[in-house]
Amino acid sequence: MNVDKDSIILGIESSCDDTSAAVLINGVMYSNVTANQSIHQKYGGVVPELASRAHQENIVPVVSAALKEANVSVSDLTSIAFTRGPGLLGSLLVGTSFAKSLSLSLNIPLIEVHHMKAHIHAHFIKEKKEDKPTPKFPFICLTVSGGHTQIVWVENPLQMEIIGSTIDDAVGEAFDKAGKILGLGYPAGPIIDQLSKKGNNKKFDFTYPKAGEFNYSFSGLKTQFLNFIRKNEQKDKNFTKDNIHDICASYQSHLVSYLLKNLEKAIKMHPCKDIALAGGVSANLHLRKEFEKLGKSLGRNTFVPKISYCTDNAAMIAMSGKFMEEKGVFADLSTSASARIPMN
Ligand code: KG4
Ligand code: ZN
Repeated sequence: MNVDKDSIILGIESSCDDTSAAVLINGVMYSNVTANQSIHQKYGGVVPELASRAHQENIVPVVSAALKEANVSVSDLTSIAFTRGPGLLGSLLVGTSFAKSLSLSLNIPLIEVHHMKAHIHAHFIKEKKEDKPTPKFPFICLTVSGGHTQIVWVENPLQMEIIGSTIDDAVGEAFDKAGKILGLGYPAGPIIDQLSKKGNNKKFDFTYPKAGEFNYSFSGLKTQFLNFIRKNEQKDKNFTKDNIHDICASYQSHLVSYLLKNLEKAIKMHPCKDIALAGGVSANLHLRKEFEKLGKSLGRNTFVPKISYCTDNAAMIAMSGKFMEEKGVFADLSTSASARIPMN
């Protein structure tokens, strides 16, 4: 079908273990298709070689499904936005090579997207007939995922500055590694979130690692958690089983209050009216609730993404692409995937 529109962007995401494609027509999302990779569950974490192989299998069917759902053909596309990084190199290479080949064969512009900026751009995804408020620039965004934990000053769609970040593990890893210790599935974040609902979050105490003004450290917390479980299991071999809800609720609540403690300091030092959450861990119900409370107590407007746009998806990549297209920021075919890219 020929679509008479100005901007039809295909977004492609392949930075970790989700292969995703989305179509954005004049800034409105028409499709967002994601293939999750269940292969990693039995290993308790993402295995990079398996992720790369699964992306190679998934990319063509996922892109085809996204085009079909949006009712556009490949020749209707006006540009292609893809995740250049940060992420797993073998995974990024699949999306990058696919996007470059398609851009070359269709002779349309290529847009390279920063994955962490795209998580923040998820707030601006507009669905058909939707008119929801979006954060006003500048704003502060706490971006929390499986690979990153950052407090970001968002000056405008393309200009962002990291105010604070983790000095070691990401908070998503702190959830996933605790889940592994508890024998839960992968990714453990959503499972801990669910189990916590029936738990007492004040039952067990943990301490706050120090990492500098607005920074975080989660690797010490993981060890603290492992020692806590080991010590209690030595006294009572049924400790974990009998206390699973309280353990999850207490640990989750500790991670959330640690995240918000530094965020509160950052907000007080960097005044802005709006504050936001982004990234996979922003799907966490306790974090969302406590974040709203924090915003209220500080008199700020709070923005949380729709649950489906928290974890990795291509709609946010296409949205980043739209912001960059508007500013005429395009890549050339010499671009390549990169596991680490600075925010600016
Ligand atoms: O943003 P994302 O999909 O991928 C990365 O860019 O890393 O985030 C994945 C992370 C995983 O660590 C997963 O356990 C965590 O987000 N996560 C959650 C929840 N949903 C996903 N953590 C806590 N509560 C949740 N509901
Ligand atoms: Zn992500």
